[in-house]
Amino acid sequence: MKKLFLLVFISVIFQNVFSQNNVTEITIVKTENKTIINKHIYGHFAEHLGKCIYGGLFVGEDSNISNTKGVRNDIIKALKELKVPNLRWPGGCFADTYHWKDGVGPKKGRPGIVNRWWGGVEDNSFGTHEFLDMCEALGTEPYLAGNVGSGSPRELEEWVQYVNYGSGTPMSDLRKKNDKEKSWKVAFWGVGNEMWGCGGNMTPEYYSNLYKQYATFMPNGNGGEKLFRVASGANGEDYHWTEVLMRDIPKGLMEAVALHWYSVMNWEKKGSSTKFDESQYFGTMNSALKMEELVQKHSEIMDKYDQEKKIALVVDEWGGWYDTDEGANGALFQQNTMRDAMIAGVTLNVFNNHADRVRGANLAQIVNVLQAVILTDKEKMVLTPTYHVMKMYNVHQDAVLIPLKIESPKYIFDKKELPAISVSASKDKANLTHISLVNIDLKKENKIKIDLKELGIKNIKGYILSSSKVQDYNTFENPNKISPVVFNKFSIKNDKLEVTIPPFSVVVLEGN
Ligand code: AHR
Repeated sequence: MKKLFLLVFISVIFQNVFSQNNVTEITIVKTENKTIINKHIYGHFAEHLGKCIYGGLFVGEDSNISNTKGVRNDIIKALKELKVPNLRWPGGCFADTYHWKDGVGPKKGRPGIVNRWWGGVEDNSFGTHEFLDMCEALGTEPYLAGNVGSGSPRELEEWVQYVNYGSGTPMSDLRKKNDKEKSWKVAFWGVGNEMWGCGGNMTPEYYSNLYKQYATFMPNGNGGEKLFRVASGANGEDYHWTEVLMRDIPKGLMEAVALHWYSVMNWEKKGSSTKFDESQYFGTMNSALKMEELVQKHSEIMDKYDQEKKIALVVDEWGGWYDTDEGANGALFQQNTMRDAMIAGVTLNVFNNHADRVRGANLAQIVNVLQAVILTDKEKMVLTPTYHVMKMYNVHQDAVLIPLKIESPKYIFDKKELPAISVSASKDKANLTHISLVNIDLKKENKIKIDLKELGIKNIKGYILSSSKVQDYNTFENPNKISPVVFNKFSIKNDKLEVTIPPFSVVVLEGN
């Protein structure tokens, strides 16, 4: 009896010590500076590629699918709920082949062009008016990507005038002739895309010169509205690119530098979107988490030339990229599983935590292409796990960042390790605190602890996105297999909140 008691006692002590050790404490970093998480971090991207525009967002006015000016009403509804702050268009690689004048005026007279990068012939039925009117319907700010690779400074200058000038110029007259009296006033302009690749295979030195030429002739609106010009940025680790742009382009000519990074395990063999093992999952997570290092290192370079952080880093293409699904519904069409939810959660946490420099980002792409938030097939539509993460996280838009520190537990696979827990937090205008947590570990739940007193909150509620298998996804037949549900795996003791985060799940807590 005595022995049994001793055994139980030792096991209770052991369990306590063990579980104590497994609780990771998150601490709040005290800082004088208040950094706002710019809502534009939550931007999206739509390119003339596969079924993103045609057969995705845009079905045309004559379609049997309910639409407003050709844009699907079910998509408009879902995207309005998502709170899309900005939408980048028309590319991507397509942008540097696009001639905007082909896409305005009576549809019948619009010439077609070969879609050089993504195949097929573009009939230009979705052009500037269709895109900008759609943005108005979505309540989103347009982000237009200008053609530097095969366009001219004049063409870009005239596009800016066409959409932004109220009246009194040849281009504003042309717009009025095309039945649009009022200008749209577009602030965000990309000056080319991937100039190191599909934009023209340029060196950063050559592009910097071109950038200066193009940007010089991009006029502010004749109501005085200022443009936010984004220079085509580096491919991942190409730090030299950022260095040259920051060094050579005068401050007043550039409001942001871009960066592109896709979470890809291996570009030669990207793997299936749904059939993957732990090794492939781990590889994708490794690539997604690389965003932290990229943002840090590009920011360090930018700091050298711009200590006041006037120039933003805009990650205007990011997301998971796998092999196009077999029998796919359009080019670069891929399903979207809980793995993609993990990519979205950890990446957005990186952006939030670096909101002092990262002030814009665009998930690639919005519908039917790469890490889409919406998939369609004819009249059917489904929201992906990534949609749900973006929606759960939209509480951070324009909120004040709460800087946090965490010594994350490890996610170990095949003797390699990654931080299992990723976190970011903010306080919004209504004084609500939001903490977003991701556990990427496929097998282990993880516990975290945070001081509620320090956060100045007493009550907590939350939502979780999880599923029984990381390969799970939503289908047209079972669209709600993965959707957020109320989360209650937490307890509060002596003002300390202890949360248990199940394997491969995303949790967003709200406190007041
Ligand atoms: O998002 C797909 C393509 O990826 C874009 O067109 C290009 O900019 C990038 O390489």
